[in-house]
Amino acid sequence: MTSGFTTPDAQGFADLKAIVGATGWKTGADMERYFDDPRGRFTGQAALILLPENTAQVSEIVTYCNAAKIGVIPYGGGTGVVAGQLSIDSPSAVIVSLERMNRVRDISVEDGVMVAEAGCILQDIHDKATDQDLMFPLSMASKGSCCIGGNLATNAGGIQVLRYGNARDLCLGIEAVLPDGSILNELSPLRKNNTGYDLRHLLIGSEGTLGIITAATLVLKPVDPESVTAFCALRSHSDAVQVYKQLRKILGDCMSAFELMSGFGVDLVRHHFPKLPAPFSEKYPWHLLLQFDGPVGLTQKVEEGLTSFFEQDLMLDAVVAQSQSQSEDLWALRENTPETNRLTGAFCNSDTSVPINRIADFVTQTEDALCAIHSGLRINSYGHIGDGNIHHNVFPPEGIAKADFVKAHPEIIDAVRMAINEVTHQNGGSISAEHGIGRLKTDDLKTYATATKYAALGVIKAALDPNNIMNPGVLLK
Ligand code: LAC
Ligand code: ZN
Repeated sequence: MTSGFTTPDAQGFADLKAIVGATGWKTGADMERYFDDPRGRFTGQAALILLPENTAQVSEIVTYCNAAKIGVIPYGGGTGVVAGQLSIDSPSAVIVSLERMNRVRDISVEDGVMVAEAGCILQDIHDKATDQDLMFPLSMASKGSCCIGGNLATNAGGIQVLRYGNARDLCLGIEAVLPDGSILNELSPLRKNNTGYDLRHLLIGSEGTLGIITAATLVLKPVDPESVTAFCALRSHSDAVQVYKQLRKILGDCMSAFELMSGFGVDLVRHHFPKLPAPFSEKYPWHLLLQFDGPVGLTQKVEEGLTSFFEQDLMLDAVVAQSQSQSEDLWALRENTPETNRLTGAFCNSDTSVPINRIADFVTQTEDALCAIHSGLRINSYGHIGDGNIHHNVFPPEGIAKADFVKAHPEIIDAVRMAINEVTHQNGGSISAEHGIGRLKTDDLKTYATATKYAALGVIKAALDPNNIMNPGVLLK
C-alpha cells in the first residue's frame, strides 16, 4: 500500500482551508506542537493541520482527500506512544485535529450514557460524569491531555481495565467518518443491538486506519460508596501475583486497580519528583498500588485481606490511605512513572501482555534476556498485574547518557524490543497490550500475527480504504 502520500497542490491547500474557514487551519511554525512525540524519539511532519468544528466538515475533508489521494492523519491529544499520530515517513499528509470538536452533546442518566465528541479531554469527561453523580472509568496518566477520540481509536487501557475493561468495553456507539467521506451514525445508547457486523468495534482500535471517530456514546457507572487506596511492599513480583490471586477471591469485582511498581521505579520517581512523600521509611524491592471501590464495609474487608498477607509472610509493609490527598500522593507515584522513565533516559518502553499465571516467568525471563544483551542495563518494570501487562522501561547503565549509549550500541534498541517480544510470545502473550501498533510496531504485528489474521486485516483495510488515505503507514505497512 503506497498511496496516501500526495502533497496537496496550491488549489488543494485553498480548497481544504475553505472547508474549515479562516480559524480552522494551521501552517508553518504553528504546526510544530503537533509534531511532538511524547517520548521524544521522533519529529512528525505534515503539509497542513486542519481543525474542523463539526462532523460535516470532517466528512468534507475526507471526501476531498480521498478524491485527491491525500493522506489523512487523525489527531486527538497527541499522547499516543507508538507514533500513530505522527507522520514519520512523509511530509505530505494532512493532520485532522479534533480539538475543536469538544462538546458533550448529551447525558442520559436513565441510560447511563454520555454522548461526547472526539476532542473531549478525558479529564473533562470524568468531571462531567461526576457532576451527575456518575463516573467514567477509563483512566490513565495522560488523562489531562488525551482525548476520547484517540482513546477509542487506540482502544486505550490504563489503570482500571481490571474492573471496567478497555475503552472498547465502555463505548456503546460511535459516529465516524469513513474513508470515502460518508458519515456512519451509530450513536445508539442501546445495550442490546445485534444488527450485523459491529462497525463500532471495527473502528475502535483501528488507530485511524478505517476512518475518523467523531463522537461516541460512553458508558457511565455508578459511584461506589467506599473507596480504598493501599500501597504495599513485597519481596518479589511473584508474591505480587499471589496477592492478586487471593484478593481476587475475597474482593472480586471491587478491585479497580492492581499496579506493580519496582522499588527502583519508586526511587526514580521520587528522585525526579522530590516533593512526593515516600510511602515507607524503609526501601523495599517491589510494591503494589491497589485501588478498591465497593459497598459499605469494603475498607474493613480490605484491611482483613492485607492482614492475612502479613500472617502468610507475603507482605513486608502496607499503608492504607487515610484521606483523599494521601490517596492522590500514592497515585502520583504511579502517574509520574512514564515521565520519570523519559527523564531517566529510557530507550525502550515495552507494552506487552501475558496470561496472569505467566507474569512471574515473563518478568524473570525478560530480565535474564536483557541482561544477556548487556549486563549493565537498568530496568524499571511496572504496570498492570490484573491485565498481565507489565511494562519494561530499559535505561543505559548508570552515568551513561541515552544518546551516547545508543550511538555506541546501535543495535540495542531492536535487540531489547525483540527479546521482550520473544519472551512474550513464548508465554502466550500479545506484542501490544494497550498502546496499539501505530507506526512503531508494524513489523512486530506482521511477525507475530497469524497469516490468516494478517491477511484478513489487509482485506478489511482495502475494502474500506482502497486509496489508503486513512493514517497511511499505521498498522499495515
Ligand atoms: C502506563 C502507560 C505507559 O501504564 O501505559 O504508565
Ligand atoms: Zn500501561
